[in-house]
Amino acid sequence: MKSLVGLLLLLPTSVVASVLPTDFFTNSMILAPLTRGGNLPFRRLCCDFGCKVSMGEMIFARYLLQNDPVERARLRRSSNEQCFGVQIATNDAEEGVAAMKLAREAGADFVDLNCGCPINEATRRGLGSALLRNPKKLGNLVERMTRGAPDIPLTVKVRLGTSDNCINVLDVADHVTAAGAAALTIHGRSAMERYSSAADWEKIEEVTNAVGSRIKVIGNGDIVSYAEGQRRIATSGVDGVMVGRGALESPWIFDENGWEPDAAQRVNIYRRLAVYMKEHFGDDARGKRMASYFLPWHFEFLCRHRPGKVSLQDRLSEFDDMPPLESLLACKNPAAHKRIADILWESGADTDAKSSLFEFAESKIFSDIQNNQYTPTNPLAELANIPKEDKKVRKRKAPKPKRTQDEIDIVRAERKAKREAAGITDFKHDDGKRRS
Ligand SMILES: Cc1cc2nc3c(=O)[nH]c(=O)nc-3n(C[C@H](O)[C@H](O)[C@H](O)COP(=O)(O)O)c2cc1C
Repeated sequence: MKSLVGLLLLLPTSVVASVLPTDFFTNSMILAPLTRGGNLPFRRLCCDFGCKVSMGEMIFARYLLQNDPVERARLRRSSNEQCFGVQIATNDAEEGVAAMKLAREAGADFVDLNCGCPINEATRRGLGSALLRNPKKLGNLVERMTRGAPDIPLTVKVRLGTSDNCINVLDVADHVTAAGAAALTIHGRSAMERYSSAADWEKIEEVTNAVGSRIKVIGNGDIVSYAEGQRRIATSGVDGVMVGRGALESPWIFDENGWEPDAAQRVNIYRRLAVYMKEHFGDDARGKRMASYFLPWHFEFLCRHRPGKVSLQDRLSEFDDMPPLESLLACKNPAAHKRIADILWESGADTDAKSSLFEFAESKIFSDIQNNQYTPTNPLAELANIPKEDKKVRKRKAPKPKRTQDEIDIVRAERKAKREAAGITDFKHDDGKRRS
């Protein structure tokens, strides 16, 4: 198969821009690719609220082609996803084409090439934001991928550059556009930047003015409401916007009427996420174990929701003057998130969830959590130390007698002599330190 793909890539066809199957990208608010956050149940929830274009968690193309079950699972779409994109990380055209074909077979509407991931695991292999270092090479990669898999459009997600000293998004946009990508998403930060400063929408606008007539441009960074998304589309000229943290905090952000749920309604929404996780992972011990990786994690973002919040950079208060249920839902402590997730998982109905959460919000445990006085005790762990009567008590090995410093020095000298005899000069100890 590889050689066939290679042959196709060599065919001298002119570059034709791959086209998105529908006009979903115009005036759209797209759910960003979010590792861990963009799991299928969460995307299903966002689509309930009007999200029309959604993307799955980033997939390493290489592992996908090796049939890795975790990566394969990321190809799955929820039945209510209207336009679903699979994001891949690759720097190899053949690998990219093969992954695009697998995504197509799995039912994806488009594939997105990740050129923004800043994590070391990606960049040290030349993936993610490392692709921005050489715009010409990136253009080449995109061109070969669009040619090799013409049945599925390829979009590209980039940052402004690798660092503040290397902002080259105009050059990158030019090459990606000429290479035939169907859309370009620009996250208005460099790869080195964290989220402390605001996304640079002026730069996004500049790029849109330069290439917007030749390619669909999606702006990304700091959108906290539907209205703000529409304002960005109107003022910066982008075709659509992409939301990441705004959706993680408020999955209802896609609602065109700017609906703002109260605390009780939010509990219903959060329980719906738990129910979707049950349906996806299974309503049993294994399913609960799988969901426990995602559900409490979501509350790290959901707890940041505040009605009428205007900026993701805001450091909002946690508990001042909030009613008990609001205080619980705004609590940033992971111990509270775990308990909330457990309650949602165990509740058979929204009313049960609300009364259990209310009870917990008024409990001594929650007040200890708020005051940082909570020390989690795990009764099972404590019980595990009590030997059962019918269990054989294992005898521990007697500890070896301790060596004196002189003995240690002798052993080291002997080992060193052996190494020298064997010609080993560059020796590292287990702890990575060099010793003579
Ligand atoms: C938890 C989390 C996971 C992310 N995972 C990915 C990813 O897999 N691929 C990607 O291109 N960007 C990823 N991003 C970046 C977002 O897609 C988005 O570009 C960034 O958060 C800026 O948008 P925002 O200000 O709306 O959050 C992630 C962001 C977050 C917060």
